[in-house]
Amino acid sequence: MKEFEGRVAVVTGAASGIGFALAERAATEGMKVVLCDIEAGPLEAAAQSLRHRGFTVSAHRVDVSKEAEVEAAAAGIFADFGAVHLLCNNAGVLNRERPSWDHPVADWQWVFSVNVMGVVHGVRAFVPRMLASGEEGHIVNTASMAGLLTGGMGTAVYDASKHAVLSLSESLYKDLIVRQTKVSASVLCPGAVTTRIFAAERNRPADAGTAERHALASRGATAFPGDSFPPEEMADRVFSAVRENRFYILGAQDVMYEWTKMGHDRMWAGRNPAVPRKLLAARDSGNAPA
Ligand SMILES: NC(=O)c1ccc[n+]([C@@H]2O[C@H](COP(=O)([O-])OP(=O)(O)OC[C@H]3O[C@@H](n4cnc5c(N)ncnc54)[C@H](O)[C@@H]3O)[C@@H](O)[C@H]2O)c1
Repeated sequence: MKEFEGRVAVVTGAASGIGFALAERAATEGMKVVLCDIEAGPLEAAAQSLRHRGFTVSAHRVDVSKEAEVEAAAAGIFADFGAVHLLCNNAGVLNRERPSWDHPVADWQWVFSVNVMGVVHGVRAFVPRMLASGEEGHIVNTASMAGLLTGGMGTAVYDASKHAVLSLSESLYKDLIVRQTKVSASVLCPGAVTTRIFAAERNRPADAGTAERHALASRGATAFPGDSFPPEEMADRVFSAVRENRFYILGAQDVMYEWTKMGHDRMWAGRNPAVPRKLLAARDSGNAPA
């Protein structure tokens, strides 16, 4: 899709971080933007901040983990605008780090309900309508570099959810191509980006088990090292990729590409996954992680 002016963009998780940067960029490209988020207050504040700058935006309070809410939002947005040209399934959450066997089932359910089923609900509610409208369109699903790495440590739930997003995005891309549609798809794989992701437990619903403070939550927006990207950098990469119809949108620090390549090289060579040397040294000196 090369033209954005006057077209319609829908962004989930748009009240904060990467989602807000995507919404802001869509607005500056001249699109009509629909911001969707579970957090009503920040959502309205985000929408207002764009309206004050003269942009055409609307806000829908939507929990992407709920099929009926996403379906109702899609029906309402198509009734209002008649079409959606850019859909960013971006909302996502991160749970507390633990050994793989120790993540409560409630963590698996919550993270998968947002990170995986949120994307599934977006695809199921919007794509048939996008196809039926006959208009050109593009879907961008936010995965993560965690979806390309062969497995992190302490983050089994999040990493597995992002592998699922990567895989379902590849399927979506191919399904659209073989049917000769006017809609295409991409997957965004950010590395470290300065957002509120480490405070994701703020959106954990009461019925998703005990809300446990994330180990890194107190470090808030500075949880990543100084070389983390601003969210606007992801928006730049997304809009270039959509213009050029590139599927993989990578936005990571060099070291993450090295880890990814190293992990895949080891796999193809029949070698086992690498464990960071400093953790092996800690184990060997009797200081294994709890
Ligand atoms: N920040 C990073 O370094 C990084 C790296 C890789 C991938 N990502 C991914 O980027 C996406 C955006 O996250 P971010 O980093 O901007 O974090 P963020 O916390 O700043 O923004 C996430 C947004 O999603 C919303 N949200 C949470 N649960 C929701 C739900 N059930 N329904 C609707 N909205 C919901 C939040 O209210 C928030 O506005 C996520 O999918 C995340 O996994 C982030």
